[in-house]
Amino acid sequence: MPTKIEKDAVTGTDTTGHEWDGIKELNTPLPKWWVYVWLACIVWAFGYMLLYPSVPYGVGYFHGLLGYSSRAEVTHEVAEVDARRDIYMKKIAAEPFAAILKNPQLMQVAETAGAITFAENCQPCHGQGGSGRIGYPALAAGAWIWGGTLDAIRQTITHGIRSGDAAARDSQMPPFGKSGMLQPAQIEQVASFVWSKFYGHATPGHATPGHATPGQNVTAGAKLFAANCAVCHGANGEGNPAFGAPRLASHVHLYGDLRAAIVRQVTDPRLGVMPNWNGRLDPATIKAVAIYVHSLGGGE
Ligand code: HEC
Ligand code: HEC
Repeated sequence: MPTKIEKDAVTGTDTTGHEWDGIKELNTPLPKWWVYVWLACIVWAFGYMLLYPSVPYGVGYFHGLLGYSSRAEVTHEVAEVDARRDIYMKKIAAEPFAAILKNPQLMQVAETAGAITFAENCQPCHGQGGSGRIGYPALAAGAWIWGGTLDAIRQTITHGIRSGDAAARDSQMPPFGKSGMLQPAQIEQVASFVWSKFYGHATPGHATPGHATPGQNVTAGAKLFAANCAVCHGANGEGNPAFGAPRLASHVHLYGDLRAAIVRQVTDPRLGVMPNWNGRLDPATIKAVAIYVHSLGGGE
């Protein structure tokens, strides 16, 4: 195609010489502002490439003259948050419980740190939110075996129960059956007494205490209870935190509310073990988790 540059009669603009089927292309230059913006973008891109991490090569990449990295920035931000948290955790370590309870900011940090610690370390045994299950006490129910004040809870968590720690909470219910202190018939009697007198009351419809066994069993059981059990569990089954003897007159039972569970416990007690956390959690974290446990609903 012959190229012939000429002036367009209508617009007065040069043509490029390109012509298709009689239609000619005008040589309209790009607007100046557009060209400048375009050039600026190219300069900007080169600058950016030089300053920031850009060109990949082989196993690495060009790190940029500023040495910037988004990972370093995140690390820095995390360190800042940690530092702020550390300040609060140091305060939690230093202040007595009474002062922490009055400080909403400290309480917020304590309850958050406590909840995370609980989910990671305690939930596998004690259930979500401290709901408990057979052999692992409910921590939200207010039925404390060893005591539900903040100090008592902290003590339990720090040293554990039958954990082997020198200051662990420790007490043994005697194995009445296994040791021959009580004969199987006597165990049935005392179990009948405990079950009919203390269990089931709070769960109407669940069981009919007193009906499952003849009355004389219960009478004999009452005598056995007074002689063998009341010293730890209390004359009225009220329990004793000093011995970690659970309250029997309750609707919350460590080993469930079946009569068979009582027979088993009197025959050969399970003696639950709770690990001590003093080597694994720092004192401030233990305080935080104690505050969390206390706040679950049963704190004294
Ligand atoms: C390996 C299982 C296990 C783990 C993990 C565990 N516990 Fe326990 N915990 C127990 C058992 C078992 C008992 C009851 C022991 C007994 O007296 O028979 C108990 C008792 C307690 C008690 C005393 C309850 C009362 O009624 O006095 C508290 C408080 C407690 N645990 C808190 C915690 C906290 C907080 C954690 C996590 C830091 C935790 N536990 C982790 C098994 C566990
Ligand atoms: C030296 C104190 C002591 C004496 C005496 C004692 N107990 Fe216990 N009892 C405990 C302790 C401590 C526990 C919890 C320990 C565990 O985890 O096994 C317990 C737990 C129980 C439980 C389980 C409670 C629950 O919530 O599930 C029953 C039932 C029970 N005892 C009944 C008896 C009866 C019946 C006698 C008398 C024949 C008796 N105990 C004598 C200390 C005692």
